[in-house]
Amino acid sequence: MKITSLKELYIAELQEARSFEGQIANALGELADRASDGALREMLAGERPESLRHGERVTALLERHGVDPRAHEDQTMRAILAEAGKWAAEIDEPAVRDAALIASVQRIQHYEIAAYGALVAWAREQGLEDAETLAGILEEEKAADDKLSTLAGERVNAGAS
Ligand SMILES: [Fe+2]
Repeated sequence: MKITSLKELYIAELQEARSFEGQIANALGELADRASDGALREMLAGERPESLRHGERVTALLERHGVDPRAHEDQTMRAILAEAGKWAAEIDEPAVRDAALIASVQRIQHYEIAAYGALVAWAREQGLEDAETLAGILEEEKAADDKLSTLAGERVNAGAS
């Protein structure tokens, strides 16, 4: 489909968000299982229900717009998660693997922050109520990213070096 308006661009990006939240939710269990630090494992396991909730909220917005939530498949997240899974499987040293897991999941968070940042701006530009929901999700993504930075700084990177 050719995109010719901000509204169409917005909907396509929202469909990408629905797709990447589903992919993240599917991958997080396995990534959490590979974490050796207890706090990191707990944090990653807790991110899974959050991703599912984000996916549901985005799906509800798409349904309100009367479009198919599953029309787009996000290929970038597929590649990011493939890399994350590869590192998680290949690194045997637990503390080094934890450092890799944090880097991978922060890459995921930063991608999400970029996507939701654009969506919030585009929703506001069009005067859509969606902006409030999306800004709420964006704040949760930033909070998760901060938690990962703290974990990396306080525990994991020191253990890996
Ligand atoms: Fe999310």
